Amino acid sequence: MTGTSDEGAATHAAERVVIGGFGTTFLAGAGDTGGAYALVEHTLAPGLLGAPPHRHAREDELSYVLEGTLTVWRAGRVSEAGPGAVVRKPRGEWHTFWNAGREPVRFLEVISPPAFADYFRELGRIMPPGAAPDLAAITALAALDVLALAEGETVLVIGAAGGVGSFFVQLAVNAGAHMIALGLPEDIDYLRELGATEILDRNADVGTSVRERHPDGADAILDVVSFMPQDSLLKEGGRLASPLGTAGEGPGRFNLMAQPTPENLQRLAELLDDGTLRVPIQNSYELAHAGEALAAFGSTHTQGKLSITTS
Ligand SMILES: NC(=O)c1ccc[n+]([C@@H]2O[C@H](COP(=O)([O-])OP(=O)(O)OC[C@H]3O[C@@H](n4cnc5c(N)ncnc54)[C@H](OP(=O)(O)O)[C@@H]3O)[C@@H](O)[C@H]2O)c1
Repeated sequence: MTGTSDEGAATHAAERVVIGGFGTTFLAGAGDTGGAYALVEHTLAPGLLGAPPHRHAREDELSYVLEGTLTVWRAGRVSEAGPGAVVRKPRGEWHTFWNAGREPVRFLEVISPPAFADYFRELGRIMPPGAAPDLAAITALAALDVLALAEGETVLVIGAAGGVGSFFVQLAVNAGAHMIALGLPEDIDYLRELGATEILDRNADVGTSVRERHPDGADAILDVVSFMPQDSLLKEGGRLASPLGTAGEGPGRFNLMAQPTPENLQRLAELLDDGTLRVPIQNSYELAHAGEALAAFGSTHTQGKLSITTS
């Protein structure tokens, strides 16, 4: 039960979590709506991005702004939503939002189906107050943990030049693995700098290129791109990890979920401090130009991370 009451308009104290300036109050959940939708109230402090660009495979969302001005990026277009504005975010559509103003923004959010509302609750449970974890780096750490690469093992990374891939390449090379990275010709120098030894053209016949060099296939694969498991490139008994839920099932198949726990943040901080890991920034933008960053995100090839500077 959340903040609603069956006895009319009265409410009791609703559960609230705050993650680095982004607050969520749980007003109604699946149990209150017959499983139809969840209703939460979000608050977003000035100068903050609410989430990285993302899209939901299953959920439709609808925001209703109560206070302040929410800047919204939807499918490549930036708009401003003030009090009374309704913003639809249908499933499948890329979107994000931020507060470019000087006052906090407060908005209601309907989420249907409702289960996704629990994401904020779960995140609130495991995140230290004020933390802003890099989910790509945390996901790369999770991949390193499950793939448990031994010295000299071959690991193929599909999507090596992007956010998760760029961190994972560094971590796997540091663990002594032989890195086979798929990328574009323009990624060759970039991936070499991260430590990849073998760089194959992602647009060529990848199966043939890998089998020519590694007839038995790779010991492990991290695939951040494919919607089908690429197990034909895997050695018998090899391991496959995916952050997209597409690793398949059974032994050696790992569907990754970023866990921004204090322990993982500490590990990340140490790896950054001792120089094992660096954050490759492709381009940096101020929050006022976040729309340009998002346009670039959608239209240019990703190498590492785009950064948005907030006050
Ligand atoms: N489960 C979780 O907890 C979790 C956490 C973090 C991320 N994720 C998901 O994981 C995925 C990857 O995240 P990311 O931050 O690494 O994304 P990203 O920064 O966009 O990186 C993806 C990289 O793969 C490249 N690519 C696209 N198609 C390819 C192909 N056919 N072969 C080889 N490379 C290809 C992209 O190049 P172009 O730019 O040219 O397309 C880009 O360089 C996203 O879908 C994200 O939502 C899940």
